[in-house]
Amino acid sequence: MNTSDVSNIIQLGGTILKTARSMEFMTIEGREQAYNNLKSANIDALVAIGGDGTFTGARIFSQEFGFPIVGVPGTIDNDLYGTDFTIGYDTALNTIIEAVDKIRDTATAHERLFFIEVMGRDAGYLALNGGIASGAEAVLIPEADTDITTLENFIQSGFRKSKNSSIVLVAEGDKAGGAFQIAKQVENDFPQYDVRVTILGHIQRGGSPTASDRILASRLGIASVEALLDDQQSVMVGIVNDEVELVPFSRAIKYDKKLNPDLFKAIKILST
Ligand code: F6P
Repeated sequence: MNTSDVSNIIQLGGTILKTARSMEFMTIEGREQAYNNLKSANIDALVAIGGDGTFTGARIFSQEFGFPIVGVPGTIDNDLYGTDFTIGYDTALNTIIEAVDKIRDTATAHERLFFIEVMGRDAGYLALNGGIASGAEAVLIPEADTDITTLENFIQSGFRKSKNSSIVLVAEGDKAGGAFQIAKQVENDFPQYDVRVTILGHIQRGGSPTASDRILASRLGIASVEALLDDQQSVMVGIVNDEVELVPFSRAIKYDKKLNPDLFKAIKILST
C-alpha cells in the first residue's frame, strides 16, 4: 500500500481491501497458493486485520511458512483478549444506540414491549454496553443463561411500576434463541403485551467510524508496522489502559476476555 492508496479513507466504513471467509485458505493447498502469491508480489510481511478467525488462520500460516504476520484487532464483537477495544466496536455501539433511541419512540407511543436483536454470535459486549447506553430494561447475552421466567417477572414489575414500554436487547448468540423465539414465548405467556421484534442486522457493520474507532485504528496501524520492523511476529497489537501492548495470537484468540460483572449490575440498577 502506498500513501496514495490510503489517503482520504479515514471517514469510510467497511474496507477498501475487501474481505472474505475463505474456504480455500482452510486447506493446505490454499495456504500454499497464498504463500506463492505473496512471494511473487514481493511481500515479505503481513498486517492481518480481523478477529478470531483471521488470527487463527494467520497463526497457522505463519507456523507453516515462517511468514511474519502481526495482527490488528478489527471486529465489532470486541471479544479479543489483549486489547480493551477492537476496531469497529465503538461505531457499532453508536449505531445500536441511535437505532434503539428511534425504536423507543414507537415503544413509548404505543406502550409496547420491544425485543431488539443485536450482533454478537459468541460475545455480549455489544448487547451489554448497548443496553446501558440506550437505557434498555434487560439484556440477554451468550455468556449468561437466560431464564425466561425471571425475564418475564422483571418486565411485568416494570409495567406495574408505571413504565409504559420496555426494551430488551438480545445478542444474536443468546442461548435461549434469537429475539423472535424469546418474544414468541413471552407473548404466549402474556398475551396482554403488545410485543414487537426488530433485528438490527448488518447496519451494525457499516458506516463512517466514530472518533474513538478512527483514533484506535490509527494508533494500532502505526503499532503494527513498528512491531514488524522490530522483528515481532504472530502477535496482535492491542491497547490496554491506553498503552500499546503485544499479545501472542494464541492468547488473543483463546477468548478469555471476561465480561465485567459491574456491567450486569449497572443494567439491573438502572432499570429497576
Ligand atoms: O464475527 C463478527 C460478527 O459481526 C458477528 O457478531 C456476527 O454474528 C457475524 O459477524 C455476522 O457475520 P455475517 O456477515 O457473515 O452474517
